[in-house]
Amino acid sequence: VKAQLVIPAAGMGRRLDAPLPKALVRIVDAPLLVHTLRRFQTVNLTGPTLVLYPEGWRETFEAELAAHDLVERVELVVGGAERQDSVRIGIEALDAATEVVAVHDAARPFVSPVSVRHCLEEAYEYSAATVAIPAVDTILQVSEDGFLEHTPDRARMWACQTPQAFRVDAIRAAHEAAERAGHTATDDASLIRWHGGSVKIVMGTAHNIKVTTPADLTLAEMWLKDNVTCIE
Ligand code: C5P
Repeated sequence: VKAQLVIPAAGMGRRLDAPLPKALVRIVDAPLLVHTLRRFQTVNLTGPTLVLYPEGWRETFEAELAAHDLVERVELVVGGAERQDSVRIGIEALDAATEVVAVHDAARPFVSPVSVRHCLEEAYEYSAATVAIPAVDTILQVSEDGFLEHTPDRARMWACQTPQAFRVDAIRAAHEAAERAGHTATDDASLIRWHGGSVKIVMGTAHNIKVTTPADLTLAEMWLKDNVTCIE
Protein backbone atom coordinates (compact mmCIF):
# COMPACT_ATOMS: atom_id res chain seq x y z
CA VAL A 1 0.00 0.00 0.00
CA LYS A 2 1.33 3.42 -0.93
CA ALA A 3 0.76 5.57 2.15
CA GLN A 4 1.74 9.20 2.48
CA LEU A 5 1.64 11.51 5.50
CA VAL A 6 0.20 15.04 5.71
CA ILE A 7 1.06 17.16 8.77
CA PRO A 8 -1.00 20.32 9.29
CA ALA A 9 1.48 22.61 11.06
CA ALA A 10 0.22 26.00 9.89
CA GLY A 11 -1.43 27.05 13.15
CA MET A 12 -0.07 30.02 15.07
CA GLY A 13 -0.87 28.46 18.45
CA ARG A 14 -2.55 31.46 20.02
CA ARG A 15 -3.56 29.46 23.10
CA LEU A 16 0.15 28.83 23.74
CA ASP A 17 0.90 32.55 23.71
CA ALA A 18 4.25 31.99 21.94
CA PRO A 19 5.88 34.48 19.50
CA LEU A 20 6.26 31.79 16.83
CA PRO A 21 4.11 29.08 15.21
CA LYS A 22 3.22 26.28 17.62
CA ALA A 23 5.04 23.66 15.52
CA LEU A 24 8.32 25.53 16.08
CA VAL A 25 8.02 25.86 19.85
CA ARG A 26 11.04 24.13 21.41
CA ILE A 27 10.63 21.21 23.77
CA VAL A 28 13.88 19.93 25.30
CA ASP A 29 16.13 19.49 22.22
CA ALA A 30 13.89 20.20 19.23
CA PRO A 31 10.74 21.93 17.93
CA LEU A 32 7.37 20.27 18.47
CA LEU A 33 7.18 19.40 14.74
CA VAL A 34 10.51 17.54 14.86
CA HIS A 35 9.37 15.42 17.81
CA THR A 36 6.20 14.58 15.91
CA LEU A 37 8.07 13.63 12.71
CA ARG A 38 10.40 11.38 14.74
CA ARG A 39 7.40 9.27 15.80
CA PHE A 40 6.89 8.29 12.13
CA GLN A 41 10.45 7.09 11.50
CA THR A 42 9.44 3.45 11.99
CA VAL A 43 6.24 3.72 9.92
CA ASN A 44 6.47 2.51 6.34
CA LEU A 45 5.51 5.53 4.23
CA THR A 46 6.01 6.20 0.54
CA GLY A 47 6.53 9.65 -0.89
CA PRO A 48 7.61 12.69 1.10
CA THR A 49 5.76 13.83 4.20
CA LEU A 50 3.87 17.02 3.36
CA VAL A 51 4.18 19.61 6.11
CA LEU A 52 1.80 22.61 5.90
CA TYR A 53 3.49 25.71 7.31
CA PRO A 54 2.13 29.21 7.99
CA GLU A 55 2.81 31.79 5.29
CA GLY A 56 6.02 33.73 5.86
CA TRP A 57 7.76 31.00 7.87
CA ARG A 58 9.27 28.80 5.14
CA GLU A 59 12.93 29.64 5.85
CA THR A 60 12.57 28.97 9.57
CA PHE A 61 10.83 25.63 8.99
CA GLU A 62 13.52 24.68 6.43
CA ALA A 63 16.31 25.55 8.85
CA GLU A 64 14.80 23.48 11.66
CA LEU A 65 14.26 20.46 9.40
CA ALA A 66 17.84 20.73 8.13
CA ALA A 67 19.21 21.03 11.67
CA HIS A 68 17.46 17.79 12.61
CA ASP A 69 18.26 15.79 9.45
CA LEU A 70 14.68 15.67 8.21
CA VAL A 71 14.82 17.66 4.93
CA GLU A 72 15.04 14.58 2.73
CA ARG A 73 11.79 13.08 4.00
CA VAL A 74 9.77 16.31 4.07
CA GLU A 75 8.21 18.66 1.53
CA LEU A 76 7.05 22.06 2.78
CA VAL A 77 3.76 23.40 1.43
CA VAL A 78 2.20 26.71 2.49
CA GLY A 79 -0.97 26.11 4.54
CA GLY A 80 -4.33 27.86 4.66
CA ALA A 81 -6.38 30.07 6.96
CA GLU A 82 -8.01 27.24 8.91
CA ARG A 83 -6.88 23.70 9.67
CA GLN A 84 -9.39 22.33 7.15
CA ASP A 85 -7.87 24.53 4.41
CA SER A 86 -4.37 23.35 5.28
CA VAL A 87 -5.41 19.69 5.07
CA ARG A 88 -7.22 20.24 1.76
CA ILE A 89 -4.11 21.87 0.29
CA GLY A 90 -2.01 18.95 1.55
CA ILE A 91 -4.35 16.40 0.00
CA GLU A 92 -4.23 18.22 -3.33
CA ALA A 93 -0.41 18.00 -3.24
CA LEU A 94 -0.20 14.22 -2.70
CA ASP A 95 1.76 12.04 -5.12
CA ALA A 96 -0.48 10.65 -7.87
CA ALA A 97 0.37 7.06 -6.83
CA THR A 98 -0.62 7.51 -3.16
CA GLU A 99 -3.51 5.22 -2.13
CA VAL A 100 -3.91 6.01 1.55
CA VAL A 101 -3.16 9.30 3.31
CA ALA A 102 -2.59 9.75 7.03
CA VAL A 103 -3.32 13.19 8.47
CA HIS A 104 -1.61 13.92 11.77
CA ASP A 105 -1.46 17.14 13.82
CA ALA A 106 2.01 18.59 14.30
CA ALA A 107 0.84 19.27 17.84
CA ARG A 108 0.65 15.55 18.80
CA PRO A 109 4.27 14.47 19.38
CA PHE A 110 3.45 11.42 21.53
CA VAL A 111 1.47 9.38 19.02
CA SER A 112 2.08 5.64 19.17
CA PRO A 113 3.55 4.21 15.93
CA VAL A 114 1.49 1.08 16.61
CA SER A 115 -1.76 3.04 16.43
CA VAL A 116 -0.51 4.83 13.28
CA ARG A 117 0.02 1.49 11.52
CA HIS A 118 -3.32 0.19 12.76
CA CYS A 119 -5.08 3.34 11.50
CA LEU A 120 -3.49 2.99 8.03
CA GLU A 121 -4.58 -0.67 7.81
CA GLU A 122 -8.15 0.11 8.82
CA ALA A 123 -8.32 3.01 6.34
CA TYR A 124 -7.20 0.71 3.55
CA GLU A 125 -9.96 -1.74 4.48
CA TYR A 126 -12.82 0.64 5.41
CA SER A 127 -11.82 3.76 3.43
CA ALA A 128 -11.60 5.97 6.54
CA ALA A 129 -10.34 5.55 10.10
CA THR A 130 -9.50 7.72 13.07
CA VAL A 131 -7.58 7.19 16.27
CA ALA A 132 -9.66 8.06 19.34
CA ILE A 133 -9.89 7.13 23.03
CA PRO A 134 -12.91 6.47 25.26
CA ALA A 135 -13.95 9.64 27.11
CA VAL A 136 -12.74 9.70 30.71
CA ASP A 137 -14.86 12.68 31.72
CA THR A 138 -18.61 12.86 31.32
CA ILE A 139 -19.30 15.13 28.32
CA LEU A 140 -21.91 17.87 28.75
CA GLN A 141 -23.78 19.51 25.93
CA VAL A 142 -24.26 23.10 27.06
CA SER A 143 -26.58 25.79 25.69
CA GLU A 144 -25.21 29.11 24.48
CA ASP A 145 -26.49 30.83 27.62
CA GLY A 146 -24.55 28.43 29.86
CA PHE A 147 -27.01 25.73 31.02
CA LEU A 148 -26.74 21.98 30.82
CA GLU A 149 -28.82 20.80 27.90
CA HIS A 150 -28.06 17.13 27.58
CA THR A 151 -25.69 14.50 28.96
CA PRO A 152 -24.86 11.89 26.32
CA ASP A 153 -24.17 8.33 27.52
CA ARG A 154 -20.48 8.38 28.44
CA ALA A 155 -19.99 4.76 27.41
CA ARG A 156 -20.39 5.86 23.78
CA MET A 157 -18.36 9.08 23.92
CA TRP A 158 -14.83 9.04 22.52
CA ALA A 159 -12.25 11.81 22.34
CA CYS A 160 -10.98 12.34 18.81
CA GLN A 161 -7.22 12.24 18.16
CA THR A 162 -5.01 11.99 15.11
CA PRO A 163 -3.82 10.32 12.96
CA GLN A 164 -6.84 9.92 10.77
CA ALA A 165 -6.31 7.95 7.58
CA PHE A 166 -8.26 7.76 4.34
CA ARG A 167 -8.39 6.32 0.87
CA VAL A 168 -7.27 9.34 -1.15
CA ASP A 169 -10.35 9.46 -3.44
CA ALA A 170 -12.73 9.43 -0.44
CA ILE A 171 -11.09 12.28 1.48
CA ARG A 172 -10.65 14.33 -1.69
CA ALA A 173 -14.35 14.03 -2.50
CA ALA A 174 -15.35 14.95 1.06
CA HIS A 175 -13.10 18.04 1.11
CA GLU A 176 -14.33 19.20 -2.30
CA ALA A 177 -17.96 18.79 -1.26
CA ALA A 178 -17.33 20.62 2.03
CA GLU A 179 -15.69 23.51 0.22
CA ARG A 180 -18.61 23.81 -2.20
CA ALA A 181 -21.13 23.67 0.65
CA GLY A 182 -19.15 25.97 2.94
CA HIS A 183 -19.21 23.21 5.57
CA THR A 184 -16.49 23.16 8.22
CA ALA A 185 -15.43 20.55 10.76
CA THR A 186 -12.60 20.43 13.29
CA ASP A 187 -11.34 17.09 11.95
CA ASP A 188 -11.31 15.18 8.66
CA ALA A 189 -13.02 11.97 9.77
CA SER A 190 -16.07 14.08 10.63
CA LEU A 191 -15.99 15.48 7.08
CA ILE A 192 -16.17 11.92 5.74
CA ARG A 193 -19.14 11.21 8.02
CA TRP A 194 -20.84 14.46 6.94
CA HIS A 195 -20.30 13.37 3.33
CA GLY A 196 -22.10 10.07 4.05
CA GLY A 197 -19.13 7.74 4.55
CA SER A 198 -18.35 5.55 7.54
CA VAL A 199 -15.26 5.86 9.72
CA LYS A 200 -13.61 3.00 11.63
CA ILE A 201 -12.46 3.86 15.17
CA VAL A 202 -8.94 2.81 16.17
CA MET A 203 -7.96 2.72 19.85
CA GLY A 204 -5.44 5.44 20.69
CA THR A 205 -3.37 6.11 23.79
CA ALA A 206 -3.75 8.62 26.63
CA HIS A 207 -0.26 9.99 25.91
CA ASN A 208 -1.35 11.21 22.46
CA ILE A 209 -2.30 14.68 23.73
CA LYS A 210 -2.57 17.75 21.51
CA VAL A 211 -0.10 20.27 22.90
CA THR A 212 -2.33 23.34 23.16
CA THR A 213 -1.77 25.28 26.40
CA PRO A 214 1.34 26.25 28.42
CA ALA A 215 0.43 23.48 30.89
CA ASP A 216 0.60 20.94 28.02
CA LEU A 217 4.11 22.20 27.19
CA THR A 218 5.26 21.53 30.75
CA LEU A 219 3.81 18.03 30.61
CA ALA A 220 5.35 17.38 27.18
CA GLU A 221 8.75 18.43 28.48
CA MET A 222 8.50 16.01 31.40
CA TRP A 223 7.41 13.14 29.19
CA LEU A 224 10.20 13.75 26.66
CA LYS A 225 12.85 13.91 29.39
CA ASP A 226 11.57 10.65 30.89
CA ASN A 227 11.12 8.92 27.52
CA VAL A 228 7.76 7.79 28.85
CA THR A 229 6.17 7.14 25.48
CA CYS A 230 8.97 5.10 23.89
CA ILE A 231 7.41 1.84 25.01
CA GLU A 232 4.20 2.38 23.05
O1 C5P B 1 -5.42 24.85 16.58
P1 C5P B 1 -5.36 23.36 16.73
O2 C5P B 1 -4.47 22.94 17.87
O3 C5P B 1 -6.67 22.66 16.72
O4 C5P B 1 -4.61 22.87 15.42
C1 C5P B 1 -4.45 21.50 15.12
C2 C5P B 1 -3.37 21.36 14.07
O5 C5P B 1 -3.77 22.02 12.86
C3 C5P B 1 -2.04 21.98 14.49
O6 C5P B 1 -1.00 21.04 14.21
C4 C5P B 1 -1.98 23.25 13.66
O7 C5P B 1 -0.65 23.63 13.33
C5 C5P B 1 -2.75 22.87 12.41
N1 C5P B 1 -3.33 24.04 11.69
C6 C5P B 1 -3.02 24.24 10.33
N2 C5P B 1 -3.53 25.34 9.66
C7 C5P B 1 -4.28 26.24 10.30
C8 C5P B 1 -4.61 26.06 11.67
C9 C5P B 1 -4.13 24.94 12.34
O8 C5P B 1 -2.31 23.44 9.74
N3 C5P B 1 -4.71 27.30 9.62
